[in-house]
Amino acid sequence: MNFKNMTLLRVFHFSTVFILGLFVMTLHAETGEKDINYEKIGIPEGVDPIAETYMPVVASDFETVKAKDVEDKPMIMKRQKDLLERRYDLSNMPSDVMMSGGRKAVQKGVRVKLPEGMTWEKLAGMSPAEIKEKGLFPEGFLPLPHAKHETGGQVFPQNHIDQIMTLEKRSLKRFDVEFDLPDHLMPEFPPPIFISTRPDLGDVSQGKLLSIDNYYEIMHGILTPVQMEGLRLLLTPFPQQQFNQTDDRKVEAPSLGVSCLDCHANGHTNAAFHLNPDTRPQIARFRLDTVSLRGMFNQQIHGSKRSLRSIEDFTEFEQRTAYFDGDHVIAAKKGVNLPDRASQVAMMAQMQNIFDFPPAPKLDTFGRLDPNKATEQELKGEEVFFGKGRCAECHPSPFYLDDKMHDLKVGRFYKPEMINGQYNISDGPIKTFTLRGIKDSPPYMHDGRCLTLEDTVELFNLVTRLNLTKEEKDALTAFMRQL
Ligand code: HEC
Ligand code: HEC
Repeated sequence: MNFKNMTLLRVFHFSTVFILGLFVMTLHAETGEKDINYEKIGIPEGVDPIAETYMPVVASDFETVKAKDVEDKPMIMKRQKDLLERRYDLSNMPSDVMMSGGRKAVQKGVRVKLPEGMTWEKLAGMSPAEIKEKGLFPEGFLPLPHAKHETGGQVFPQNHIDQIMTLEKRSLKRFDVEFDLPDHLMPEFPPPIFISTRPDLGDVSQGKLLSIDNYYEIMHGILTPVQMEGLRLLLTPFPQQQFNQTDDRKVEAPSLGVSCLDCHANGHTNAAFHLNPDTRPQIARFRLDTVSLRGMFNQQIHGSKRSLRSIEDFTEFEQRTAYFDGDHVIAAKKGVNLPDRASQVAMMAQMQNIFDFPPAPKLDTFGRLDPNKATEQELKGEEVFFGKGRCAECHPSPFYLDDKMHDLKVGRFYKPEMINGQYNISDGPIKTFTLRGIKDSPPYMHDGRCLTLEDTVELFNLVTRLNLTKEEKDALTAFMRQL
C-alpha cells in the first residue's frame, strides 16, 4: 500500500469512528442516560446529580435556555415559598433592639416550626436516634436549599439590585430565580461601616451603599492610597458564572459581572446567597449565606469548608474558583479575572482587614459584659454562655470564635432526602463563625437556615444536648444581642 492510500484509509477509519461516536453520544443525550455510579457518589438511585465534577461548557443557545428559565421561574419560586412557609414563621416581629446603624430592628422569636403536637421541651428530651427514627426533627433545622438548587449561583436581594441599577446602571437581576427571604429578616441595608483605623469616626458610610461611582467621594481623606485602591478593586465588577458576556449567563444583557461588595455590601453582608463551591455532585452542594467581612483581621481560617489560611488566598480564589462554582475550566470560557497577588490582592486584603466590628458598648476589654451596664437577664445569659450552655468552648471571648472547624453532627437527627433539588446529607465540619456583632447578620448558620438568634439557641439546645430552661434560652438571646 502506498503512502496516499494509507492516509485515505486512515481518514476513512477516523471518520467512521467519529460518526459512530457522535451517533452514540446523540443516543445517550436523547435518552437522558448518564453512566452514574450512584453508590460511589452516595446519592439515591435514579436521581440526576446534574453536574458530577465538571459543569457542561457548551450549553444550548441563549434564547432557548432563557425562554425555558423564564417559563419555569414562577414554579421554582412557588416551590421555594411553599418550603419556607412550611418551615418558618416569616412574620414581621421586631424586637426593641436595633441593628448597629440604628435603621432596622433585630427580629425576635423562634421562627422554626415544630412538628404537629411537639414542644421544644419534649423534643429536647428525646435522643437524636429517636428524633431521626420518628422523623421529628423540625424541618427548619434541615439544610436550606438554594432557591433554584439545580442551577445555583449568586442571587442578590432586591434592595441591592435596585441600588446598583440606580448607581451604576448594572443589572444584578437574574431571569431564572430571585431572592427568597422577606426584607425584615435580612441585615440592615445599607449597613454602617466601621473602620479599625478610625474608631473615633463611628459609621463612615454616610448612610450610603459603597459603589464604584461614589466610593472615592465617601472615603477620600480617611483611607490611605493603598486602602483606597483596594476598595476600588473590591467594587469593580468582574465576570462570574451567571453574570458574564457569554451565552451561558442568567442576566438579560451581557454583563461586566459582579463586585466583591455586591455581596459583602459595605464590608458587611446583604444576605446574598450562592452554592458552596466545595461539594459534588451538584445536588449535594449547600447554600451559602454571605458572611460579614467585619473583624476579618482576627480570623485565621476562611470559608466554611475551604479553610484557606489567609485573606489574600481567599481574595484570590473568590474570583478564580468560587465565582465559577469551583470549576476553573468553565471560568476560562467566561473571562476569569486573575488579580495580581503582589499588588492588587495585597491591597484588596489590606482594605478588607480594616473593616471593624460594630461597637459593643456593654463589653469590656476582655469582651465580657460590664456589670454596671448590662441588665440582669444579659448577665444571666453570659453565665449560661460560658457555663451550662458550653457555647464559649467554640466561641471564646473576646472575639467569640476559635478559628476551628467543627462537625455539629446535625445528620444524627434526620435521614437524608431530596428536597427542592437538594440531597441534604449532613454538613460535616464547618468553620465556627464569630458572634461579635451577630445581631447585624441574619439569617444564621452557613446556609441561613436559622432566621433569628432564638432559632440558633433552639438548634444548639438540641444538637449539643443542653436541656436549657425557657428562662436560660431567653437570657442567651439577650446576651448575644449585646455582642
Ligand atoms: C455571592 C456573593 C459573594 C461575592 C460576589 C463575593 N463573596 Fe466573599 N463570600 C461569600 C460567601 C457566601 C462567603 C462564605 C464562604 C464559605 O463559607 O465558604 C464568602 C467568604 C469570603 C471571605 C472569607 C470570610 C470568612 O469568614 O472567612 C472573604 C475574605 C471574602 N469572601 C472576600 C471576598 C472578596 C475579596 C470578593 C471579591 C473578589 C468576594 N468575597 C466576593 C459571598 C460572596
Ligand atoms: C462544638 C462547637 C460549638 C459549640 C459548642 C457552639 N457553637 Fe455556635 N457555631 C459553631 C459552628 C461550627 C457554627 C457554624 C455552623 C454552621 O454554619 O453550620 C456555629 C454557628 C453559630 C451561630 C451562627 C453564626 C452565624 O454567623 O450565622 C450562632 C448564633 C451560634 N453558633 C451560637 C451558639 C450558641 C448560643 C452556643 C451555645 C448554646 C453555641 N453556638 C455553641 C460551633 C459551636
